[in-house]
Amino acid sequence: QKGGYRHFMLKEIFEQPTVITNCLAGRLDLKNRTVSLPELDALEIPEQIQIVACGTSYHAGLWGQHLLESWAQIPVRVEIASEFRYRNPIFKSEDMILAISQSGETADTLASMRLAKEHGVKVLGLCNVVGSSVAREADTTILTQAGPEISVASTKAMCSQLILLTLLALYWGRRKQTLPANVESSIITGLLDLPQILEAELPLLRSRAQELAPAYSTARSFFYLGRGMSFPLALEGALKLKEISYIHAEGYAAGEMKHGPIALIEPEFPTFALALNDALLPKTVSNLVEVQARNGKVIALCHSGFDLEVDHTWEIPNAQGPLSTFLALPALQLFAYEMAVYLGKDVDQPRNLAKSVTVE
Ligand code: F6R
Repeated sequence: QKGGYRHFMLKEIFEQPTVITNCLAGRLDLKNRTVSLPELDALEIPEQIQIVACGTSYHAGLWGQHLLESWAQIPVRVEIASEFRYRNPIFKSEDMILAISQSGETADTLASMRLAKEHGVKVLGLCNVVGSSVAREADTTILTQAGPEISVASTKAMCSQLILLTLLALYWGRRKQTLPANVESSIITGLLDLPQILEAELPLLRSRAQELAPAYSTARSFFYLGRGMSFPLALEGALKLKEISYIHAEGYAAGEMKHGPIALIEPEFPTFALALNDALLPKTVSNLVEVQARNGKVIALCHSGFDLEVDHTWEIPNAQGPLSTFLALPALQLFAYEMAVYLGKDVDQPRNLAKSVTVE
């Protein structure tokens, strides 16, 4: 059942290359190098999108917001479903609710969808489980095709959500003619290359996680810092660490550190930095320098050429722009996994948690 892996979580992390291939299958027009999402062709392009989701799926939504806004120029708000449903949100009929849920049964996400439908707003579901409540109740559903996710900690499902959000942003961007030249074809090339790159990289990511885990296993708290598209990844890295290793971890926008949290930094409170090579890297680096000035230890997940001296660098291969995420995400997942294994925790069945949260 676990295909030779010790835990479902590890198996599912290693399934990500296949998940990407399956997500792309039938959704690309390879001749014209365009995205094909026929289920959306008959729908108007939304004026605004409100994403509702919980946990890891919420983090996927925060990441997708960047691409939907920059490529499709659609204003996007992202909210935790348990907040959205009790807020008296303003609905406009030209808007769209995008409900993201692996299980399709999360009570708050469903309640948010139902509220929107009562107000006549179209609901698009991004969901992994065929026949689930989200899949049945949404006006239109895009299935993420990640296959069954058994481990309580969500891993491959997030990968599939991010692929679909990328495709959605390209698809609406082309329809709205807001995509910068060649973006669609070059991102499609990058996506098609990803499974092979990731397949080769996953064992190396795991070895690095295994090396780092003993060095950080005595920490009781961690910061995960990132900016821009790496901020949702910081949130996700922290969530994975806390839920399976029970180490307190906070994901923070790196620029917010000086507004209070930096007071917590001391040698026993390490920082896991998302220091990928993007336009915001110099800003992240200056935030890390401030952490180091308070004697905080730093692990930097980075690309080659990263030149700040930190306690541990963790270099991942370059990928095109936002596609670096698909290499950074398994690094975060594997770090949490190896920490939990090193600490002897029950990785697949963390305490106090259930796979789907069908009650409030
Ligand atoms: C974290 C995790 C949870 C879920 C959340 C939403 O590893 O699994 O945070 O992401 O409960 O679940 P879905 O996506 O099924 O709505």
